[in-house]
This record gives sequence, C-alpha cells and structure tokens, in this order.
Amino acid sequence: MWDFFQTVRHRHSVRRYQADVPIEPEALHGVLEMALAAPSAGDLQSYHLVVVRDRDLRQRLAEHSGEAFLAEAPVDIVICADPGRSGERFGHRGREVFALQDASIAATYIQLAAVAEGLGSAWAGTFEEGSIRQLLDLSEGLRPVAILALGYPAEIPEPTPRRKLKDIVTYK
Ligand SMILES: Cc1cc2nc3c(=O)[nH]c(=O)nc-3n(C[C@H](O)[C@H](O)[C@H](O)COP(=O)(O)O)c2cc1C
Repeated sequence: MWDFFQTVRHRHSVRRYQADVPIEPEALHGVLEMALAAPSAGDLQSYHLVVVRDRDLRQRLAEHSGEAFLAEAPVDIVICADPGRSGERFGHRGREVFALQDASIAATYIQLAAVAEGLGSAWAGTFEEGSIRQLLDLSEGLRPVAILALGYPAEIPEPTPRRKLKDIVTYK
C-alpha cells in the first residue's frame, strides 16, 4: 500500500483503458465514498455524482466532450455542482463559488482514491453543460463541472511537467 505522498505522485491522467475489464462494485463504492470525505463549504457537500456505466451513454459523453477516453473507460462519473444547496446557506457566494469548489474537491478525492484502488482516471472538462444535462436528464439546478473516466489503465502515462514551487508561492 502506498503512503499518501506516493499515491498523489502516482496520479496521472489516464487516457487509455482496459475497456473490457469491469470495476468491481466494492471498488467503485469505495472510490465514490471518498468523495464524501472531502471538505465542503458548511459541510453541505453541494454536489451530485452520476455514475455512467451504460455503453451508449458513455459513447455519447465522449462525442459531446470530444474525449474518446470517456467511451473506452468502463465507468464515467459526471460530477455536478448543486448551486441551490450551497446557495440556500451562503447566497451568491455559495451558488457561484462554493458549489463549484465542493464539486471540484470531490472530483479530486475520487481521482486520488482511484490511484489507491489501482485504477486510473482522467478529467474531461470540454463539454457544453446544457447538452450533458439533457443527455443525462439532470435537474435544471445541477451544473455538470467534470466528467471523470475511471478504469484499469492500458498505459502508464509519462509524468507531466510542473511549475517550480518558487514560481507559485509567495512568502510574506
Ligand atoms: C479543470 C480541468 C479540466 C480538464 N479538462 C481536460 C480535458 O478536457 N481533457 C483532457 O484530456 N484532460 C483534461 N484535464 C486533465 C489535465 O489535462 C491534466 O490534469 C494535466 O495535463 C496534468 O496532467 P496529469 O493529470 O497527468 O498530472 C483537465 C483537468 C482539470 C483539472
């Protein structure tokens, strides 16, 4: 079992999957549960997750986003922000900021949990919210913010470059 730092360092965007290897329900459940371990504004967990296993729907998600890996992975997770939920407590900031942050952090926890489970994931962000909402019959109030592909990797991606710490940190 990797420690936390190794787990984080082993997370890379996986864009090739073993399409025919399903994810066991227990493994999927364990990964999804980690979303709920994430911090959220007011502990409201202002997001909703749509788990897409249906082959045709995954194909449609891939077409809508232009990301073929969404069709190849056996599971896609559509992470939706729930602005109404956060807005009820926090008003404008809840609707416009906190709900998106809650959903994004949940997505990140899922991506890290996937690594710990031996799975790979990749985030697709290029889609039009309205068409995803229509495709999945989501309620008007939900905003799809990320679609995560999830599955067993068919590639070990090259690590991607990062900026230097000194270029992103200011000490005062
Ligand atoms: C907000 C966001 C949107 C992203 N959208 C896409 C996308 O549409 N397609 C894609 O292939 N990767 C997407 N990614 C993944 C990034 O390209 C990837 O995380 C980055 O290049 C660093 O590589 P790594 O994840 O392997 O460390 C997105 C990541 C984030 C956080």
